[in-house]
Amino acid sequence: MKQVLIAGMSGAIGLALARRLLEQDSELSVVGLCRDPSSVALSQEQVSRVTLIPWDATQNGSALDVVEKLKAVLPPEAGLDTMIYAAGILHGPGMTPEKRLEDLDAKAFAHAFAVNATGFAMLVQAISPWLRHRGFKRILAVSAKVGSITDNGFGGWYAYRSSKAALNMLVRNLSIELPRKYHPLACVAVHPGTTLSPLSEPFTRSLAQLQVHQPEETADNILRVVTGLTEKDNGTFLSWDGSVIPW
Ligand SMILES: NC(=O)c1ccc[n+]([C@@H]2O[C@H](COP(=O)([O-])OP(=O)(O)OC[C@H]3O[C@@H](n4cnc5c(N)ncnc54)[C@H](OP(=O)(O)O)[C@@H]3O)[C@@H](O)[C@H]2O)c1
Repeated sequence: MKQVLIAGMSGAIGLALARRLLEQDSELSVVGLCRDPSSVALSQEQVSRVTLIPWDATQNGSALDVVEKLKAVLPPEAGLDTMIYAAGILHGPGMTPEKRLEDLDAKAFAHAFAVNATGFAMLVQAISPWLRHRGFKRILAVSAKVGSITDNGFGGWYAYRSSKAALNMLVRNLSIELPRKYHPLACVAVHPGTTLSPLSEPFTRSLAQLQVHQPEETADNILRVVTGLTEKDNGTFLSWDGSVIPW
């Protein structure tokens, strides 16, 4: 990996991934996308190898704006070898994970789908000119085990679960279409494991029974999965420990 794009670079997992990648390889560069680039804290040395571009998954045309800014720093011929979609939303203003049918809210649903699913598809479409090179490409969507339909024995969290299931379907669809044009490639969904972050913070009490990772541990786990990817993994849903999760 030498040219990596991370969407959701301001998040706990996105930032930990970027920091680890930059620490591990002094020749690696990162393009980071997030709503507010000024919120991203990097060391002086790391800043010189990072390009931050504003991007909001809920804004139509935001992915196209990214293309214009990306072209200015990295021509499509230079290529990207890795894209990690680490943006996601579970709760926020007007948005609380639903416990029952009565809690469903159309606006919250639309917001969850925009950030958790549509944003990924629109970005892959936008950056596809950077995938034309002959090297191996990794497209990774940070999903969630609760997006597995097979695994759902608990219910609730309607907007989050269904938007992550939609993200998984996008991964599966892209894993069929992308290799036709951009071979060799692996497009996968990855469950990062429960991780301390603003997204999981309101649930820390209920998380007590689960194995909870620090963002740095999660970054190491995800990067182990990413570096181990081969074309055989294309179209799979993987857990942070490398095991396969049923769709
Ligand atoms: N933490 C866990 O236990 C856990 C478990 C399973 C799956 N995941 C998944 O892991 C991914 C990363 O989550 P995290 O734990 O690192 O949470 P986080 O710290 O809250 O990060 C969420 C990221 O999503 C971005 N985002 C939110 N709304 C956006 C929008 N409208 N446009 C663009 N970006 C937006 C945030 O950007 P801003 O800084 O601009 O808000 C931030 O970069 C998510 O997809 C999440 O579903 C996490």
